[in-house]
Amino acid sequence: MSIEKVIVLEDDPIIRTNLENFLRRQRLDVASASTLAEARDFLGRDNFDLIFMDMRLPDGNALELLKELQTRPQRPLAVVMTGFGSVESAVDCMKNGAFDYLIKPFSTDQIEFTMRKAQEFTQLVKVNQFLTNEGEDSEHELIGRSPAMETLRALIRKVARTQATVLIQGESGTGKELVARAFFRESPRAAAPFIKMNCAAVPENLIESEFFGHEKGAFTGALNKREGRFELAHTGTILLDEISEISPAVQAKLLRVLQEREFERVGGNRTIKVDVRVIATTNRDLQQSVEKKEFRQDLYFRLNVVPVYVPSLRERRDDIPLLANEFMRRLGRKHGVHTKGFTDDALRTLSAHKWPGNVRELQNVVERAVIMCGENGLIEAEHLGLGLAVPPPDTAFSGSGDLLSMHEAEKRHIFTVLNVCKGSRVKAAKILDLSVRTLRNKLGLYNGTLVKPEDETETDAEDAEAAEK
Ligand SMILES: Nc1ncnc2c1ncn2[C@@H]1O[C@H](COP(=O)(O)OP(=O)(O)OP(=O)(O)O)[C@@H](O)[C@H]1O
Ligand SMILES: [Mg+2]
Repeated sequence: MSIEKVIVLEDDPIIRTNLENFLRRQRLDVASASTLAEARDFLGRDNFDLIFMDMRLPDGNALELLKELQTRPQRPLAVVMTGFGSVESAVDCMKNGAFDYLIKPFSTDQIEFTMRKAQEFTQLVKVNQFLTNEGEDSEHELIGRSPAMETLRALIRKVARTQATVLIQGESGTGKELVARAFFRESPRAAAPFIKMNCAAVPENLIESEFFGHEKGAFTGALNKREGRFELAHTGTILLDEISEISPAVQAKLLRVLQEREFERVGGNRTIKVDVRVIATTNRDLQQSVEKKEFRQDLYFRLNVVPVYVPSLRERRDDIPLLANEFMRRLGRKHGVHTKGFTDDALRTLSAHKWPGNVRELQNVVERAVIMCGENGLIEAEHLGLGLAVPPPDTAFSGSGDLLSMHEAEKRHIFTVLNVCKGSRVKAAKILDLSVRTLRNKLGLYNGTLVKPEDETETDAEDAEAAEK
């Protein structure tokens, strides 16, 4: 059953008892409250799935409680009960997130109907959450069977179950974030929050408040108090992505959190204690940053309890076909393209490429290929676009943007080469892989003339020069 725990908040003892009895007969776990204070007390101690609430209570209006509930990530569905005279306030409640309302007096049929609706709704939400997680899981799977990846996997399995701080280093696009998520997934904290903080993406002046939160009025624009990422990650894991990018001032504060697991919000003086597992990534060599005095050595030691190196794609070329096929499958589905596989030529091209952008680059190349490939679903070398690192030269187009004819393209190319060779037909002919005579004839043709007899001396000299080489 989706709904198990219910609070009945009602000050009229008759209505309250009747409702409670009905709900208990449905085998629900019912908590009974006649004031807002009592209801708050229950909510603070346990998670409830549903709350029935009367509007006017001895210690205030239920609307207050409803608004409070909306700020909680884990909140019960709220069913408001109101007298006939105040339909308006019921509407107000719906606007503030109530799930349903009942107008007093109500029959057991009406309660039953509301309960059924609530059960179905809760069930849908749960299924939906499950499906979303499911999708994410396969996307987050680490692909690779090369020795380097197997070693990495064994390390993850071993270290994930501890509380140790992990520092993940590797080139850009190698999968550091994915590895961080694997550490989280295989840890005892897998059911607790995983909070990511991209240190490079947050502007310097905001980073402290992102890390530690701030109190209301801490700085201009701080209209409300806000929890920082460390607070959100309490009992879970925090990923400090691109840790090399933080300033010395923030490095000092971070050191304290790593040592003491405590901090204060910006503009606050209450010390907040947290229990978090820290995972950091960097694509810069942190050791070098320490040597250059850009990164605190003590912080480096605190982070580098377990160093993890993610190999570049060049160091595990064996994995390229596996990765390429998996990306083809995923991206084919994404773009609605039916794909069959890669030709041998395409696979050879992929295996030979240098992959400066690592797995991310491979993923991009495969995505483009999936889009470019033909009806037969086969990805050929030309679909990869790897040979064409340089875009086609402007010389392929006329002044009005049309593509050139063969004859026109050849003529332009010949003049370009002649120019580069400062007019030497011998050098130009060599680059063009033509005989000097053929080149001369072509030039003559372009000028609308055949070679004139007076040119003979010059051309003889050229022929002689060419013959010498
Ligand atoms: N072993 C792998 N299996 C499957 N997908 C991978 C693998 N490694 C990386 N990827 C994919 O490649 C992309 C880049 O990975 P990720 O963001 O983890 O790299 P990164 O090392 O954090 O890069 P950067 O340093 O630029 O932040 C992601 O889409 C990720 O899913
Ligand atoms: Mg990253």
